[in-house]
Amino acid sequence: EFVMLNGEVMSRETAKVDIEDRGYQFGDGVYEVIRVYNRKLFTAAEHLRRLEESAKKVGINVPYSIDEIQSMLEELIERNKIVLGIVYLQFTRGISPRKHTFPGEEVAPTFVAYTRHVGRPAEKLEKGMKAITEEDIRWLRCDIKSLNLLGNLLASQKAAESGCDEAILHRGETVTEGSHTNVSIVVDGKVVTHAADNFILNGISRQKMLEICRRNDVPVIERNFTVDELLKADEVFLTGTTIEVVPVIEIDGKPAGNGKPGPVTRKLQQWFEDEIK
Ligand code: PDD
Repeated sequence: EFVMLNGEVMSRETAKVDIEDRGYQFGDGVYEVIRVYNRKLFTAAEHLRRLEESAKKVGINVPYSIDEIQSMLEELIERNKIVLGIVYLQFTRGISPRKHTFPGEEVAPTFVAYTRHVGRPAEKLEKGMKAITEEDIRWLRCDIKSLNLLGNLLASQKAAESGCDEAILHRGETVTEGSHTNVSIVVDGKVVTHAADNFILNGISRQKMLEICRRNDVPVIERNFTVDELLKADEVFLTGTTIEVVPVIEIDGKPAGNGKPGPVTRKLQQWFEDEIK
């Protein structure tokens, strides 16, 4: 297995990062997960643009152009013969003695990327997922795809311990997003999803879904909705890089919508599948 460390392809065993890497000590870095379908990166430009934006928002200087990163990732996919899977990549603020303020310009970011075979979640796509609701205790810059994921992990773990696949987060009454997905509801044939502000990650799959809706004349509204609206919605679905568009059939042990994947979700799934072929 080959991985990428600071622009060099090497075997996984030889790729080592110092214990004082700021990603390791502080979660001081940003990342992306990009889908690979049929040996090719899916929506790479969108992911790499978001990576660049995340890095800029936290003041990490990415020393490569988007095109350079993309060719490196393509090389990795090719060397590892990935047909269906993901590429994970992250930039941390680099290696420097532990100190809360940023190191100087002389410290270069650490760039790591690797690939993994990941199948499409056939059963979840077909049958849907179960979710819990959970208070969103994360920070106020969820628009940054930061390595600091403890708030997300605590929620995700709680969902798993409740026998569910995802935690749907809410700040007070307002539903924000999932622990690692975006959440949308369908009400009277209209898709409603949280606006792309600082309270959510503006998912690339979310953006793709919105684009698909607009192209197919499915009304979409980007606005906040409440937990009550979530629980009373006709349909609930999640979007994300590895899961695509997945119906939610149960929330906190009660049926979501009518407890089965709904017709709008099914259409979106079909249209999404058309995109990846
Ligand atoms: N998760 N919201 C959060 C908090 C996420 O972590 C993710 C992605 C999404 C969906 O974004 P996208 O459609 O761009 O994948 C929304 C990635 C896959 C992860 O951390 O594994």
